[in-house]
Amino acid sequence: MRQEVAELKTESLSSEPPTDEIFPAARLKRRRQNEALGNAYYLDRQIGFESNARSYPRKLPIAIRRAEGIHVEDTDGRRYIDCLAGAGALTLGHYHPVVVEAVQRAVADGVPWQTLDLTTPVKDAFVEELFESLPQEFARSARIQFCGPSGADAVEAALKLVKTATGRRSILAFHGAYHGMTHGALGLTGETAPKLAVGGLMPEVHFLPYPYAYRCPFNLGGEATWRASVAYIERLLDDTNSGIAPPAAMILEAVQGEGGVIPAPDAWLREIRRITSEREIPLIVDEVQTGVGRTGAMYAFEHAGILPDVLVLSKAVGGGLPLSVAVYHESLDRWEPGAHAGTFRGNQLAMAAGAATLRFVKEQTLDRHADAMGERLMAHLLRIQRESPHVGDVRGRGLMIGVEIVDKQAEPDRLGARPPCRELARRIQTGCLDRGLMLELGGRQGSVVRFLPPLIVTEDDIDCIAAIFEDAVRAA
Ligand SMILES: Cc1ncc(COP(=O)(O)O)c(C=O)c1O
Repeated sequence: MRQEVAELKTESLSSEPPTDEIFPAARLKRRRQNEALGNAYYLDRQIGFESNARSYPRKLPIAIRRAEGIHVEDTDGRRYIDCLAGAGALTLGHYHPVVVEAVQRAVADGVPWQTLDLTTPVKDAFVEELFESLPQEFARSARIQFCGPSGADAVEAALKLVKTATGRRSILAFHGAYHGMTHGALGLTGETAPKLAVGGLMPEVHFLPYPYAYRCPFNLGGEATWRASVAYIERLLDDTNSGIAPPAAMILEAVQGEGGVIPAPDAWLREIRRITSEREIPLIVDEVQTGVGRTGAMYAFEHAGILPDVLVLSKAVGGGLPLSVAVYHESLDRWEPGAHAGTFRGNQLAMAAGAATLRFVKEQTLDRHADAMGERLMAHLLRIQRESPHVGDVRGRGLMIGVEIVDKQAEPDRLGARPPCRELARRIQTGCLDRGLMLELGGRQGSVVRFLPPLIVTEDDIDCIAAIFEDAVRAA
């Protein structure tokens, strides 16, 4: 391809206007727009144009031409089951008819595309649908802030909200947490690698032990892990010499996603809610990834029967289009007019798509479907675990499932867990891709293979996903 671009460059000197000399590849593209170009062509161009910070294409080197339901097709004509699903954003998969219809209707009605935070009938309907999907006790006294389009934007808004309301500065977060890549959200994120190159992240963040029983921070394991976490946090907050100023908030994921699919036990969440309520520390629950049915409940905090003070949502809430919100108790609504703003807070097509998605998930009880399909996938994966010493742990909730890949040659720790094995996880991911299954990696050292299929998967799809994974594990 580079040679062809070079040829075009020479050619363009004589026959093309100057603009094409600067970017001759564009002409190549126009010339070939009717030809079937394959993955190699697009990947080569991507490497030429895009930032070194690009991530997914390094592990999933394909160019996607089209998508429908739970499938995507690449430019070589190969089909894949999409268990990445836009990192969980595509709750109903690609081009679900109810989402398409909602977007088409909005376009046909001539709704404005962007409205900042001006209101519209589409926005009003979205808020109503969202509030109906929440526990009524929470919704009754809730306020909503529309944020910039990403999950990280909503996390940033939540931080400013609680700092303003409490007049405090420090934030409590958890080991393994992921809240986004902006300076505040990255400051709350557990993984150190993306933080090392950048100074000036949000100060006064204190990390607490998450109940990750498989690699227990207290070397205890089982139930003792969450109990020790609770005892540690409670004592820390009451210790006048802990070094931590009274916090503006605690932020957590009820199931850590990027951290390696680690579900917090319901009892732990209830204890955390008690501890934070007793000390008047606002609790921010980040459901950017877990929200809208994924874990087998509409919102993951509902499993524990608790209510957050602030709920952060994105991904699924826009039906797969960019949208994010922070929903919070009205008592926190103490910031000044204009205290949080942003141009892209008024994406009407995303609100139409989001309202349709929320309605469909509720009407079709897709949360329960996610629970049933998740159990089916877990049963397959637990069987695979029994047969493969590479599979250290299988865990998750609903259709958010992770398989931790370990080094079977290495010595186990005192709880029986062998060290994570990133290389093998990568080989399994590649093996799955070769066999027609797109999966994501996460967790410590990227050693957790993650399953995040759209909630519309069927039993047959689940069996097929498990069969491909099993084959890839055997081959790796
Ligand atoms: C729990 C959680 N919070 C926040 C984010 C950040 O969202 P975004 O990538 O849209 O900024 C993510 C992204 O995966 C997430 O999983």
